Amino acid sequence: MVTTLVIIPTFNERESLPLQVDGVRRERPDVDILVVDDASPDGTGEWAASRALEDPQMHVLHRPGKQGLGAAYRAGFAWGLERGYDVLVEMDADGSHRAEDLARVLDAPGEWDLAIGSRWVPGGAVENWPAHRRLLSTGANTYVRWMLAIPVRDATAGFRAYRASALRALDLEAVESQGYCFQVDMAWRVIRSGGAVVEVPIVFVEREHGASKMSGEIIREALVKVTVWGMKERAAHVRRAFSK
Ligand code: GDD
Ligand code: MN
Repeated sequence: MVTTLVIIPTFNERESLPLQVDGVRRERPDVDILVVDDASPDGTGEWAASRALEDPQMHVLHRPGKQGLGAAYRAGFAWGLERGYDVLVEMDADGSHRAEDLARVLDAPGEWDLAIGSRWVPGGAVENWPAHRRLLSTGANTYVRWMLAIPVRDATAGFRAYRASALRALDLEAVESQGYCFQVDMAWRVIRSGGAVVEVPIVFVEREHGASKMSGEIIREALVKVTVWGMKERAAHVRRAFSK
């Protein structure tokens, strides 16, 4: 049997997290959950810890402070790989990634190493996002596709499943991305290591409680990193062409 770990990173998600955990439990009682909390001041970590006492399939990793989404996922992956899970899932805590779409991501067709729950393929959608967030996401994804020349429509998506073998093939310690460009970084690494990526449509619903942690710094990091990666890749192409 395939064992699956759903990793949920949290920072100040006290109101949202219980609903997310209940949803995952209801839709997929077979999966285990790991909450990676960055010492949320609002008590998210304490709630998760008390829930874990009642539910043997729920676990919590407490981190000392807010260190970014990338750092939280790297720690979550290490935790799950150490314990031998076959599939590791990324999911937001705030209800945007609907538990009813989890089965669709896990049962994505074909042989995949990374299955992305995509907003920007036919059938995918975003509900209740203001125009500027929509533009940021479509713009970022267009830039990534062009700069890195990868065929992924939603490379910034945070709802995805990795085959453990695909994560093991990567040097996770070497991943430096801190913010949401971690998602792009990981998709690109899987593709470069020869992994198969599929996208399945999901409906992303904007949160009802709490606030987004998206920031100017997160956008800046993504823009700078994607640009540098793309330039390096182009330079490498040119070098290869001349060395033939
Ligand atoms: N532990 C930890 N540490 N969790 C974090 C941190 C952090 O520094 N920053 C954000 N999170 C958690 C949030 O608590 C939430 O569960 C999840 O990561 C997503 O954060 P949001 O702030 O809700 O992201 P968003 O809705 O603005 O952004 C969505 O779109 C991004 C770009 O497409 C998400 O789906 C992202 O995953 C996606 O990259
Ligand atoms: Mn969100």
